[in-house]
This record gives sequence, structure tokens and C-alpha cells, in this order.
Amino acid sequence: MMDFVTEAESLFNYTRELRRDFHRHPELGFQEVRTSGIVANELKELGLEVATGIAETGVIAMIEGGKPGPVVLCRFDMDALPITEETGAEYASQNAGVMHACGHDGHTAIGLTVAKLLNGRREELAGSVKLVFQPAEEGLGGAERMVKEGVLDGPRPDYSLSLHLWNEKPYGTIGVTPGPAMAAAESFNITITGKGAHGAAPHQGIDPILAAAQVVTALQSIVSRNVHPLEAAVVSVTAIEGGTAHNVIPPNVKMKGTIRSYLPEVRELVHRRFREVVTGVAASLGCEATAEIFDMTPAVINDAKMAAYVQGIARDLLPQDALDTTYRTMGAEDMAYMMQDIPGCYFFIGSANADRGLDYGHHHPRFDFDERALPKAAALMAAAAADLLK
Ligand code: NI
Repeated sequence: MMDFVTEAESLFNYTRELRRDFHRHPELGFQEVRTSGIVANELKELGLEVATGIAETGVIAMIEGGKPGPVVLCRFDMDALPITEETGAEYASQNAGVMHACGHDGHTAIGLTVAKLLNGRREELAGSVKLVFQPAEEGLGGAERMVKEGVLDGPRPDYSLSLHLWNEKPYGTIGVTPGPAMAAAESFNITITGKGAHGAAPHQGIDPILAAAQVVTALQSIVSRNVHPLEAAVVSVTAIEGGTAHNVIPPNVKMKGTIRSYLPEVRELVHRRFREVVTGVAASLGCEATAEIFDMTPAVINDAKMAAYVQGIARDLLPQDALDTTYRTMGAEDMAYMMQDIPGCYFFIGSANADRGLDYGHHHPRFDFDERALPKAAALMAAAAADLLK
């Protein structure tokens, strides 16, 4: 078991060079042409059968073990974000306005390292590993599209493993939690329609700004007053737009935001109350309102046995690391689509290092992580896959 750590550490330069190269050349979702080209080449160098062009830029490779057995899917996301980098790092983005601000550059490099670690042991594996390099995780639907294009067919995986380098946790910690690990996410649009008027004659109109203010406030009662106090949910209004002048009451206000939850029954409750609050509060002030909710991703639910399994591997493999067995986040991940029918484990590798200024949050223009987390992540993923194929 320890070999995985030693070997991943011996590959540290390989992993870090790849990560820094991807970091210098970030690509947005479904445009990861250069990145996926490098991924495909590296996998071919290992002698693997490689399929490209799945969901535009996705790559799949199979490592066939020496003996028959189950299939383990290992998934890595490759896309960057439309953010202008401010890290000042020597390997900073050379692609203006695009940045690897979530760590997917690291994930792609980890994936190629996992490929090396497992390919070197292929004769010992009873079963096979399906390596999946996914485009467009950042809200663009890359995983769903890969599922539609057959990533879960021929051969169908029996288990899945996936991970995130995680700056919400310090380097030296690992988060593996059974059950819900990341939230179901929806976005919403609200339009509140009143009647425009002169700002000095509000009695001649119906003020949608006043109604919008009440709606924003009342929406916060859903989590605090309707959802069970021990269950988790979030309702955030994140954009509000209405009016153009100091002395004009506008005819309407538009709002946007997001809803997060773990459990289907909580999600249903929040959605029902959301519609009731928006239309009811607006109506009480004489306005009409429409509320549209758009599905983004289901919750990431870790299979209890798989999570326990990965926890066990983490304890054996990285005994010095702190293992958090209850860590959850309201962030969302489209890996949920690949985990809906296939028992899987999504885990977090702590990557923040406050002493070195590497603790900005994900999607921040100064986001960067402690690269020592790279070999740890690769070793844990590879060891878990290998152990499932003993
Ligand atoms: Ni991410």
C-alpha cells in the first residue's frame, strides 16, 4: 500500500510540470483542445487504448487488468474559468481572461499520474480501470453530456472514484463522507411586475422595487423557518436589476440566484415554498411575479460502503493526515450525474497552505494550492482503485 505514496512522490516532478503547463494554458469548458490533446498523448504513450472527442473534448482510456473483474471509473475534470488571474505565479495563465481557479489543472495532472501508477500494476489488477477526463464541469454540463454520449456504457463501471483538491481544508487533511457530500443545485429567475410611475407619485403606480425587497427578505424565511433545523439548504438571491433613474418607479424588477440542498424532500419543500413566497409576497403588494427554477446538478451522494472503503485506504496510506469523515459542502459538482446509478466516492484532498498564501478560495483570482497535495491525491485514488480490483 505504501508503494503508491512512494511512487506518486517519485513522479512529483512529472505531475507538477503537467499541472503548471495546464495552468499556463487554461481553456474554458468544451474548448479544452490543447489540454485534452496532451491528455490523449500521455495516455497513448502508456500504450492505452484512448477514445477522444466524447462531449467535444472528453477523453476516455481503459486500463485492462491481467485478470477479469469489475470496472472502476476514475474521473478528472479539465476546464478553467473566465477569470483574470492575479496570483503573479511564475506559471500564471498566458490566456487572458481565463484561469484555472478551481484546481482542475491539478486534477488533470493527477489523472495522468493515476494512469501511470495503475498501468504499471496492470497485471496485478483483477478488472479494469476506466479513466475519464471530463470537459466543462463549471456549470456547462460536461458530465451529463458525457453520460449521454455513453461514458457509462461499454463497459459499464461498477464503482466510481472522483476527487477535488480543496482549499477549504489545509494541506494534510482528507475529507471522505458517506451520503451527501455536495449539494443539489438549481438556478432561478424571478420577474416582479408592477406598474411604472413618477418617483414622486408612487400612489399612481405599483412599486416592484418595494415588492422585490420584501421577496428577498421573505425568501430567507424558507431556510430559517420551513426547513428542519438539522437539515441543510441555501437560498441566495445573487442579482437584482430594476429601474434606471432617480425619479422613476420602474415597471418591473428581475432577480437571479441559486438554491442548494442535499435531500430530495428538502429540495422539494424549498422549491414549493420558493414559488409560494415569490408569488404570494409580490401579490400582497399588488404585483405579479413569475419564478422559474432551472436544474443544474443533483446532489453528490457517496455510497456508504464506498466511502467507508476509501476512508480505510486513506487511514492505511496516509496515516499522518487528518481524516474528516463528516465533511460536506453546499458547492455543486456535475460528477453527481455519473454517480446516480453507480456506487461512488467523491473525496476532498486538503490543499490550502496559509503560511505560503495558498489559501484563497476556489474561483478567486488569486486561487492557488499547495502542490504537495498532488501526489497524495494521485496515490489515494490509485490505491483505492487497485484495492477494488484485488
Ligand atoms: Ni472544481
